Amino acid sequence: MVFFLIQLNPHVHRRQKSELLTMGKKTAVVYFSLTGHTQAVAEIVQEVLDADIIALKPIKSLNSKSSMKFVWGGYQAKMNKTPDLEPYEFDVEKYGFIILGSPVWAWTLSPPMRSFLKQHDLTNKKVAFWMGSMGPKKKAAERFKKALPECNLVGELHLQGTHEENWGENYRKAKEWAQTLQ
Ligand SMILES: Cc1cc2nc3c(=O)[nH]c(=O)nc-3n(C[C@H](O)[C@H](O)[C@H](O)COP(=O)(O)O)c2cc1C
Repeated sequence: MVFFLIQLNPHVHRRQKSELLTMGKKTAVVYFSLTGHTQAVAEIVQEVLDADIIALKPIKSLNSKSSMKFVWGGYQAKMNKTPDLEPYEFDVEKYGFIILGSPVWAWTLSPPMRSFLKQHDLTNKKVAFWMGSMGPKKKAAERFKKALPECNLVGELHLQGTHEENWGENYRKAKEWAQTLQ
């Protein structure tokens, strides 16, 4: 009932609507990770925000140890492919805040994250996202935003690093970022 009153009231703006519909609901961290960095960040964010964590796994996974992953993965990303995912539990109505994590692939979001966004309507939802990459993000964050619907975007983060030392620093940044989302 309250849900419909909020949705129908023309005096309640999108951001206010999103805040009102968030009340009392859980937070979800949804991520895809091929080589583990995004997964480690997801676990940090989950712990800080006491969130549910959902891993996206394509049915046909790339071999994370093969250098061919750059060719096939880069091609899929460039072509905006949406690969089929292994079954996972996610009920959009259960969550008031959804935090999305993806590696940068071919300077855009990863195909499994694109599949997730195709499967769920996040309109008016409170959303934040982060991306990790080896080099500069270039247009990756813009492309992620373009793939998001009309949501209430409250935060974004880019983490860059090639060696594990960089990632130690990145994990610290991720924790700080998650604390700002509380
Ligand atoms: C298929 C593929 C494409 C990638 N494309 C880019 C890219 O365009 N720019 C970049 O800086 N890093 C790129 N990377 C590196 C990843 O974004 C980076 O290593 C990321 O931290 C990996 O996250 P993960 O360990 O959670 O899989 C690519 C990696 C893969 C596997």
